[in-house]
Amino acid sequence: MRPVTLRTARLTLDEPRLADAELVTEYCQDPLFERYLTTPWPYTRADADAFLGSYVPESWASGRELTWAIRGADGGPVMGMISVREAQHELGFWLGAAHRGSGLMSEAATAVTEWVLAGGIRGATSLMWRAVEGNTASARVARAAGFRRIEPAAPTVPTRDGGTLPAWHAVRTEPVDPRVDESWRPILGGDR
Ligand SMILES: CC(C)(COP(=O)(O)OP(=O)(O)OC[C@H]1O[C@@H](n2cnc3c(N)ncnc32)[C@H](O)[C@@H]1OP(=O)(O)O)[C@@H](O)C(=O)NCCC(=O)NCCS
Repeated sequence: MRPVTLRTARLTLDEPRLADAELVTEYCQDPLFERYLTTPWPYTRADADAFLGSYVPESWASGRELTWAIRGADGGPVMGMISVREAQHELGFWLGAAHRGSGLMSEAATAVTEWVLAGGIRGATSLMWRAVEGNTASARVARAAGFRRIEPAAPTVPTRDGGTLPAWHAVRTEPVDPRVDESWRPILGGDR
């Protein structure tokens, strides 16, 4: 598939490029990434160069994983990444620490989700999300993007060393399931 650009009120989601390597390297030093993501740890400039120069373009071409750079409305410096993996149509995302807390990821996740379910990925009728138990910031993004929390038989997520950790799971269908808010109440409470 050719890379697709998506736009929202505040964001442009477009193809990550090698010129993003310096910022990606900086963002990926965040200890939260060690805890919650499977990005390499420790993370080096060579990891960013390989991700941006090879993995991202090859994965767009094969359709294995579609990865967007999150930028401001007029483009500019990368603020984070969001992707959909072909296997199970799984949504994943991160933001550089300086860009959190303004609803940007909720906006990006909503845009990608709506694009996928409107036919961006042929045949995709649902998207899944999962996060290491306790990753409340990620759960709030999933809720804001209309994912409904589910309790599968084996609620786990893979770790970077080949193991698994207990995880929260959720699924997004179109239209949004009316039970979304209720499904998150046990872990996020009723506030929004
Ligand atoms: C997950 C992540 C992208 C969320 O970023 P963000 O800037 O908080 O996202 P948004 O601004 O869109 O906020 C989403 C919600 O989280 C809330 N929130 C932000 N930081 C929070 C925190 N530390 N604890 C609890 N809630 C938090 C916001 O208030 C907002 O809530 P609401 O929509 O219910 O009002 C960011 O924390 C991150 O990059 N974390 C590290 C990587 C990661 O864990 N990725 C997800 C792996 S599954």
